[in-house]
Order: sequence, then C-alpha cells, then structure tokens
Amino acid sequence: MNERPHTSRATEPLHASRHCFASPRFADESAVLADAYRLLDDAVIRYEGRPVGTMASLDPRAPADNYRDCFVRDFVSSAFLMLLEGRSDVVREFLAMILRMRGQQEELEGQQIAPGVLPASFRVITLDDGSEQLSADFGDRAIGRVAPVDSMMWWAVLLRAYVHFTGDTAFAHTPEVQRGLRMILSLCLQSRFEVFPTLLVPDGSFMIDRRMGVNGHPLEIQALFDMTLRAADLLTRDEGSLWLIDLAARRREVMRDYVRRYYWLDLDVLNEVHRYSTEKFGHDVDNVFNIYPESIPDWVPDWLPDDGGYFVGNLGPGRIDFRFFSQGNFLTTLSGMSTPEQAAMQMQTVADRWDDLIGQMPAKLVYPAVQGVEWRLMTGSDPKNVAWSYHNGGNWPVLIWPMVAASLVAGRQDLGERAYRVAERRLMKDNWPEYYDGRHGRLIGRRANLDQVWSATGLLLARHLLESPDSLARLGLSEDDHKASAAGSED
Ligand code: GLC
Repeated sequence: MNERPHTSRATEPLHASRHCFASPRFADESAVLADAYRLLDDAVIRYEGRPVGTMASLDPRAPADNYRDCFVRDFVSSAFLMLLEGRSDVVREFLAMILRMRGQQEELEGQQIAPGVLPASFRVITLDDGSEQLSADFGDRAIGRVAPVDSMMWWAVLLRAYVHFTGDTAFAHTPEVQRGLRMILSLCLQSRFEVFPTLLVPDGSFMIDRRMGVNGHPLEIQALFDMTLRAADLLTRDEGSLWLIDLAARRREVMRDYVRRYYWLDLDVLNEVHRYSTEKFGHDVDNVFNIYPESIPDWVPDWLPDDGGYFVGNLGPGRIDFRFFSQGNFLTTLSGMSTPEQAAMQMQTVADRWDDLIGQMPAKLVYPAVQGVEWRLMTGSDPKNVAWSYHNGGNWPVLIWPMVAASLVAGRQDLGERAYRVAERRLMKDNWPEYYDGRHGRLIGRRANLDQVWSATGLLLARHLLESPDSLARLGLSEDDHKASAAGSED
C-alpha cells in the first residue's frame, strides 16, 4: 500500500485576519509576523477538505518521520491562535477528531489502551484510491515508546479554552465530549498505590519526551493536571457525574496546597533543607520526604536569588529535583496554581537570572544541564540530549508564550516584552528553529529542525497576549482572581 502523509494543499490561507495586530511594536516586526503566518498556513493539515491540525515541522530534513504529524501538544499554540483569530471551527474539528481517533482504536498490540489516553500525534494518509485515512500514534510508534500523558491534559485545557472563548457549551455537552472528559478525569483520579495528591507518570511523558529523569511527579505534569481538573466544570451535573466533579474539586484543592507548600524553593526554604534533620517518623515532621541535605546540588545556593524563588522540578521520597523547568513554572503561574507572591518571586528569578533562563532565546527548557556521569545515567547516554542542547538545557522558542503569559499574570509585562523582543529578533532570520544550544542559547540547535511550527505560533500567540492581556481570561487560562483577568476581562 502506498501511504503518503497528507501535506497541506492550502490554496487559500487559513488566516484571513492575518493583519489583526493593531500596529507593529518593534522595527521590522511586520515581516516577522507575516513569515510566521506563512509557516502556519503551510503547515495546515486537511482531512476531507477541512483544516484539522498543523504539522510539527516543515523541514524536509527533520530527523524523524513523525515531525510531519500533528502533535496534540504542538497544536495547542496554533489552536489558541485560531480561537483568537476567528477560526474556532478548526479547533472544534480537532477536538472532535481526536476523540473519534480514540474511539476507533481501543486496542494496541493486543493490549487495551486505558480509557482516557489520547494520541501523541496523528496524520492523514492518502491511499492509492484517493481516500483518506487517519493514523494515530498513542506512543506505540514514538521513539522510545514514551507515553503521551500530557495529550489528554492539553486536550482538556483546549476544550475549556474553546468553550470559554466561544460560549459553545452545546459542544461540551455532546455525549462524545462528556464521555471523553469523564474518561480523562477518571483515569487521572483513579485509586493508586500513592500517598501524594500529585500524579505519578513515567519518564518522557510530556514535552520532554525522552529519558531525562522526569519520571515520578514532574512539575509540568502537575501544572497540566491542575488545569485538567479545572475542566471538570464542563461536566454536566447529572447523577452519574456528580461524584467525579466532587472528586476533581477536592483533589485539585489538596494538590494545589501541596505543590505550593512542598515544591516551592526560596532562600528560607533552602536554609531549612540545608539544616534538615533526617530519618524522622510520624505525622509532625518537617522533613516529610526525608531529604538529605547532602543532596542539594552545588549550584543551588549560589544561583537562587535573594528575592526570588521557583517550583522545583520533581519531588518524591528522598528526592528533590532542584532543576528549574520553565514550562512547569510558567504554567503554574498562568493557571493561578502559584500564589500571587510565588508568581512574583518566580518572575523575579527570571529577571535576576535572565542570562541563564532567557539568554539569547526565550526560554531555557531546564536549567542547568546535566553532564558527565550524571548525563550518562540520567539520559542513557543520549547524544541528542548532551549538555546545553535539546531537552537538556536547550532554549525552546515555543516557551515564549507561556513565559509571556506568566509575566502578565504576575504583573511583570516588562519581562514578557523584553523576552518577546529577544525572540522576535532572531527567529525568522534563523528560519524558525525548534531549539537553540549553548548556555545562553546563542547557537541554533545542532540537530534542530528548521521551520518548526510551534516556534512560529508561540511567537504569534505571545504577540496576541502582549497586545490583549485579557485574552488569557477569555481563553479560560488564568484564574479569575489573578491580575491578568482583573486587568481587562469581564470573564
Ligand atoms: C520533540 C519534542 C516534543 C514535540 C515533538 C514534535 O519530540 O520533544 O515535545 O512535541 O518533537 O515537535
């Protein structure tokens, strides 16, 4: 069978409203924005004539074949953009189609796929007779067979954004969507062996989709989990769902408190950890996870700013992963999972450690990189994840939008503007790389794709947010009691 991935045949551009920005903010900005829209239009995937997603990359030399797929997580920035620009029909089609794909594929290699699991990516295949077929990857074909836990979470976040933005509750109330949402929430909330309210996941189950020591309770998953639980407000309050709505609300409350309390690191907390007594049994102990002070990495005491703080990357028995993960931190602030004080201190850390976290391209995926023996043990000697590259300390342009979003929520628009300018200066000139290398992100990633679509949509979305901060509340992303929503929305 001759299977050809269906690339865009976009004759008419998707974005009729491409001139929707009031005026250029910076010199040469219009050319950059126009080029970003060009990339987005070229990346559109159509099914039966209708746009349903965007390819991850248009680079013909991309190292893996599935970069031509539409990844759920990659599509999210395109989708927010489409909502803001009057193409909610595409987002609705995408949401419905992902559920249909889930319905078509109940089994993988003889095993049941857990209800609620959604694909990492999909593509449209054109068969010899001209008919089209959808083909999804649930992690069964992905490099390393990683489980895309974040797909169902991003789907729920996007569904909520769609409904908030358009008011189309009728869509949310269709039996398919209700069933999908119930499956997702039930899967996240099922009884487990664990005693923590956070969610336990395998390595590489989100944006960092390779072995990187992010198994356990990584921050980004907890932030997305929080936003997923919030989507329980879309369930209809009938008999069959009340228990789930209630369970989601209770878990969310407990988990938020837990993350705020135990993931938070500032100088006071570090001093406590530095002087922790260990091996304590019982309910009333300070060092509940039995963290050995000796496990504090050398870089932490010098790097942590006096007036800043951040959420650590992971937490479990005897384990704090002290690394700063940008996406997790920015999402906690965006969603209001961090308190306003924590949000402000997190942004102060970004300001005080600008070169490390933003540098020459916003933003560093994780700081710092692991090297040497640690790199060998943690990554399995992954040459793509060598120090200060790719997932191991590379700078990812797509992170500009969560960075800008967090800056707005925390009342630090100045930082968002500054980061935007850094990104805007380089991205088009460098042909929209997937990531950058080096301590400060000066080099285009050695194995990075060019024409990486979320590098362009991330910038466009950031631009929208800077121009209209109330978009965050209109998309149901920020907490109502936070500054960004208070600033401009009736939401
Ligand atoms: C890489 C990234 C992943 C992304 C995918 C497609 O695998 O790690 O986050 O979704 O490429 O761009």
